[in-house]
Amino acid sequence: MDWHIDVHESAGSTQNLLKDLAEGGAPEGTVIQALEQSGGRGRHGRSWISPRGNLYMSLLLRPGCAVNLAGQVSLFTAVALAKTIGEFIEDDKSLTLKWPNDILLAGKKCGGILLDSDIDTRGRVSWLAVGTGINIESAPQQIGACLKDYASNAIKIDEFRDAALAQVAKYYNQWKNAGFDAIKQEWLTLAHKPGQPMSVKIGTQELSGTFYGLDETGNLLLQDKDNKIQTISSGDVYTDVG
Ligand code: BTN
Repeated sequence: MDWHIDVHESAGSTQNLLKDLAEGGAPEGTVIQALEQSGGRGRHGRSWISPRGNLYMSLLLRPGCAVNLAGQVSLFTAVALAKTIGEFIEDDKSLTLKWPNDILLAGKKCGGILLDSDIDTRGRVSWLAVGTGINIESAPQQIGACLKDYASNAIKIDEFRDAALAQVAKYYNQWKNAGFDAIKQEWLTLAHKPGQPMSVKIGTQELSGTFYGLDETGNLLLQDKDNKIQTISSGDVYTDVG
């Protein structure tokens, strides 16, 4: 994978810039990074506060896969970013993942992933904009964590970005050549343990139960109070439930 990185001093949202480039036919491997964002977007229409000092980048993939496999991209990206963070902090024991693609340090979010996509007329994914925000220098108070607090040396954003792109390229190749199975196992070792209590908000609906696993496409499997296994393709997971 050849990454072509374009760094902006400031942007509204790297994700919006990359979407426009994708629609204009930009090649796979195009990367837009901004040193700060004024309109950073998070999942479910939330905003992503983006002051200087953190990593904000969007990268373009053209996987051509079936639409139901696109979610696997955010899962392998989460594993790739967790591995990268592990290279930069002192002790990776506090590093965990939360479905579908939050990266946590001691239970607080230090990174997130946002996918935008386009589907062609045959139902294949023609492009995916993979937006990643990693808190390096600062994080929203109370709910966020930043890498600086877990590292003994200063983290240079460019070095972190290049290490992250190398890990994403590695997992993207693995996914294309060998499929999702081994990546799913890696995700599981970093994420929820079977039986962990959790609730999932899906729009206005809330389901409670325990973590059962992932299905072969990367959907969350939740065992509900009646012991039925619910398959969830999108939602917000809360694990601080008893
Ligand atoms: C989440 O809600 O967890 C996803 C956050 C994704 C934020 C990144 S920052 C770079 C890219 N540009 C955006 O506007 N959003 C993503």
